[in-house]
Amino acid sequence: MAVEKTLSIIKPDAVAKNVIGEINARFEKAGLTLVAMKMVHLDDEKAGGFYAEHKERPFFKDLVAFMTSGPVVVQVLEGENAILANRDLMGATNPKEAAAGTIRADFASSIDANAVHGSDSPASAEREIAYFFGADEIHSR
Ligand code: PPS
Repeated sequence: MAVEKTLSIIKPDAVAKNVIGEINARFEKAGLTLVAMKMVHLDDEKAGGFYAEHKERPFFKDLVAFMTSGPVVVQVLEGENAILANRDLMGATNPKEAAAGTIRADFASSIDANAVHGSDSPASAEREIAYFFGADEIHSR
């Protein structure tokens, strides 16, 4: 199995609910290691650039408005198959479809206020990590 890095974002709804620690405990208990993290309040340009692939989607404006509505925690998780492991822990995008015991089933309230983001492929992870972190801010094991 390959050791990978993936970008994780704890979204404004979960930060407001005061569950940053509970969410990160799930990552750590699953064997993932936090190797970079920062709390930031995104502006329209930074959030819009992050979600640029969804620019033409009908939900884009609301997604950017939501992601700029409060601070987020941007972080890098490292571990065996980290990309898929994180997606499994997160659960489905729509919390109504998320399996019991997943982060979204437990903490998300809607498809946009869905608590967490995780990279969906190695290419996305590479792009998304570089979007937020310089190499000197990542403390790989
Ligand atoms: S899709 O439909 O497969 O392209 O969706 P996905 O790539 O999983 O995620 C799209 C991101 O946009 C957020 N979002 C919505 N998605 C679908 N429908 C609606 N209405 C919607 N509103 C917001 C969704 O939470 C995904 O955010 P991230 O941060 O990537 O998980």
